[in-house]
This record gives sequence, structure tokens and C-alpha cells, in this order.
Amino acid sequence: MDTVIYKATEENIKKCAEIIKNGGLVAFPTETVYGLGANALISKSVKDIYAAKGRPSDNPLIVHIADKRTVFEIAKTVPPLALKFMEAFMPGPVTAVLPKKSIVPDVVTGGLDTVAIRMPQNEIARTLISLSGVPVCAPSANTSGKPSPTCAKHVYFDLNGKIPAILDGGDCTVGVESTVIDFTAGAPRLLRAGGMPVETIEKVIGPVTVVRNSKVALCPGMKYKHYSPDADVFMAVPGKDIKQRMADAFDKAESEGKKAVIIAMSELKDSFENRKVWDAGKDCESYAHNLFAFLRKADDEKYSVVICQGVEEKGMGASVYNRLIKAAGGKTI
Ligand code: TXA
Ligand code: MG
Repeated sequence: MDTVIYKATEENIKKCAEIIKNGGLVAFPTETVYGLGANALISKSVKDIYAAKGRPSDNPLIVHIADKRTVFEIAKTVPPLALKFMEAFMPGPVTAVLPKKSIVPDVVTGGLDTVAIRMPQNEIARTLISLSGVPVCAPSANTSGKPSPTCAKHVYFDLNGKIPAILDGGDCTVGVESTVIDFTAGAPRLLRAGGMPVETIEKVIGPVTVVRNSKVALCPGMKYKHYSPDADVFMAVPGKDIKQRMADAFDKAESEGKKAVIIAMSELKDSFENRKVWDAGKDCESYAHNLFAFLRKADDEKYSVVICQGVEEKGMGASVYNRLIKAAGGKTI
């Protein structure tokens, strides 16, 4: 199958909406990362998503909508706090997990009786969903296990030949996936840190249960290897001597004949003399925006060791930390 990249013109968005409506797969931009979309009501199309990504079938998909009213068509109940959450943060980089109605096929939810729902902020995404006329289920549009795609080129690299269409809407602004909040088990619970800091959400809906360093995966997707480039990634724990630890790790790698690169925030980036450094930006928002693209660039340019500056787990830092520690497979320095 030839994979066509369509520029996101009005006419092409229409064409892609037709593909989805008729059961085909389309990768499309959102403000977080690119998604691989299918008509959520056609089980065969949903199965095609799992096949294209090589995704384990017990890892449920998020259903994307273009109109908040659709929530009531796919969720059995919407508790008051979930309503408040939707009012404040949708459209936006968030996902709500709610009890599902039977209209949502089991393949979408990996057999769970809950469904994850997201209304993206990105206009192209919403126009596409709205024109397709159906709820669109979509995981991130990467090969399972690889960093999520933040531009059309990343999607093409992973899925060329496996899907008919990619809608190119440029770079994703946020760069990490949505924040997932579960409303099905008592108090709201954070399942995945993401594009909207949990502190911001708490200001509106009150306390959200946050489990850190859980040995058990909070949502099915979290138990799998994730965000891993081919290169070996190390995360430098924030705190004393971080510059020295990063420089030492770089020197050790190079002394072993490995091509290494440091990813550091702007304030540290000039601390490494003539070692190779990529600037992640001045805050955790920029770090989030750049991280996946850097991990992919490391593979592209044949680096075998990537040493990343770790960050504190607060605000967007929590999302960056979570991606770093997973990309590193837990390896810290
Ligand atoms: O920003 C995003 O969320 C992107 C864009 C494309 O919207 N999508 C995304 O999808 O990141 P995916 O499939 O890569 O990650 C969805 C996560 C997985 O960890 C999955 O296990 C979890 O959400 N999830 C989906 N449905 C769930 C449910 N019913 N209960 C608990 N977790 C669920
Ligand atoms: Mg994903």
C-alpha cells in the first residue's frame, strides 16, 4: 500500500474524513502528538490500527470527538466532576475515562467496561472528526514502543506502506500526549501525566489522586515498553553535580567508542565545553515540545547514547520526567 501525505487543505481534510468514514486509517495531527485514526464503530478498522502499530490488543484506544455532546452518546454516566473537567479543559490536551455504553465496540477498549474520551484543541483534528461524522479512535501514530510522532515525517518513517493516508498539519505544539484522568473509581485519578499539568486540573476539580512510582501500570498502556529509541538513553537525576554526572556519562560513552549526545535545558547547555549538546529549551513546556523529536533525531543521526537532563516532577515537568524515565528504561545517572 502506498502511503500518501496530504497537506491539510480543506479539500484534503474532506478526502481523509471520507477514508475514515469508509473504514480506512488516517494519521492526523493533534496539539499533543499525531494520532492514527479509524472509525470507532467499525471493529475491523479498529483491528487494523493494532496491526499497523504492532500494538498489544489489551491496550485500549482513546475515542476522539469533535463535539462535547458526543460524550453522552458513548459514556454511560458522566459524574459531576467529569462534567466540570470537560467544561474547563475540553477541547484541550486531556482525556477522561468514563463508564462506556455498549455502542463502543470491545476492540476499542480492550474489553474494559470504560472508555477514554478526548476532544482535541487542534482545528484540523476537529474538522476531520466532525466531517467523518463518527467518533474516531486513535492511539499515537507510531510503531508500538517508539517515541510518539510530533510531525508527519515521524509518522511516515514508522508507518509508510501500512496506512493509506497521513494528514500533514505541521509540528504538534504540545509534543507529549494528553493527561489521562479516570472518573470511574471514586475520586478522580491521574492515569498518565501529559499536556495539561495535574496542578492546573486540581485548581478546577479539586484533588486528583496521583500515584507516583507505581510498580503496577495504572492504565494498560503503561505496562509496555515505551518511547524507546534504538539509542541507549540515560536520565540524569536533578540535583547536586548534575552537570558533572552528565559530562562523565558522555565521556565514558565516547571512551567506549560510542557516539553520544546530551539533551540539556538552556540554562545548562553551555556547561559541557565541546561535548555535543541539544538545547531542550528554557522550560519544561519547551522540553516536552522537543523531547520526542530529539529521541528520533538521535536514531536518525546514529547516536548510540543519549544523556538527558532529568527534571522535577511538577507542572509539565511531571510529563517530561515520565517520558524520560521510560525512554531510559529506568536507567538513571
Ligand atoms: O494525546 C493523546 O492522548 C494522543 C493523541 C493522538 O490524542 N493519543 C494517545 O493514545 O496517546 P495512546 O493510545 O498512545 O495512549 C492512550 C493511553 C494508553 O496508555 C491506554 O492504555 C490508556 O490511554 N487508555 C485508553 N483507554 C483507557 C481506558 N478505558 N482505561 C484506562 N486507560 C485507558
Ligand atoms: Mg502511544
